[in-house]
Amino acid sequence: MSEAILVGADLTKTFDKLTVVRKASLSVGDGEFVALVGKSGCGKTTLLSLLSGLERPTSGSVTIAGKEISSATEDELALFRRENVGFVFQSFNLIPTLTAWENAALPLFPVKMTTEERRRRAAELLEKMELGDRMEHLPATLSGGEKQRVAIARALINRPKIVFADEPTGNLDTATGDAIMAILNRLHREQGMTLLMVTHDTELAKTADRVVRMQDGEVLS
Ligand SMILES: Nc1ncnc2c1ncn2[C@@H]1O[C@H](COP(=O)(O)OP(=O)(O)OP(=O)(O)O)[C@@H](O)[C@H]1O
Ligand SMILES: [Mg+2]
Repeated sequence: MSEAILVGADLTKTFDKLTVVRKASLSVGDGEFVALVGKSGCGKTTLLSLLSGLERPTSGSVTIAGKEISSATEDELALFRRENVGFVFQSFNLIPTLTAWENAALPLFPVKMTTEERRRRAAELLEKMELGDRMEHLPATLSGGEKQRVAIARALINRPKIVFADEPTGNLDTATGDAIMAILNRLHREQGMTLLMVTHDTELAKTADRVVRMQDGEVLS
């Protein structure tokens, strides 16, 4: 494996007395595409939240691009996520009152930059997603596949070191899901995008460089 961009070591997450992630360790190499699979409720989303710095582990450590994030303050973590990490969710998570380009440009809003520059960066990505003619559309007027392509543009706009995707095709029909997977696979192959993707579709998992299995909160080796 190439140099690891993400290292999760001995991660445990306990809610009240329920341990949902147990001593999980997982590394992702720079430019690698890893699929994380396992039964519903086994802890995939929780592990992804720990690895991406959205949630703090009860114990264990996470290192992204050489930085140990477990000890970071909330503010440091928010800044670190914005600069290094992209997210794609099953339910798109677009802001309904913002247009497609504004949603795609959202991670740039805290960055000192003119509106024109933000719009230009968003347009460049949305055009690559074949959404150049949907820039001014609100999410409600976009199809599911279009919404997810806006979400992928948003995930990429800060040129993150790693993209986390949680069931990115879970709310899409098969053909639309395949189109979204083709985009993610192309970004991985052609631009070396590092991707950690949760799926419970074994066919989708087969397109990854490596499949990691979870069971009852544990990562199986
Ligand atoms: N905030 C929370 N408080 C308490 N329990 C939680 C919390 N978040 C998740 N859990 C529990 O942790 C377990 C794992 O949940 P998680 O969402 O990680 O599973 P998953 O593998 O992503 O499942 P699915 O494939 O259905 O999305 C579940 O039993 C869930 O109820
Ligand atoms: Mg989940």
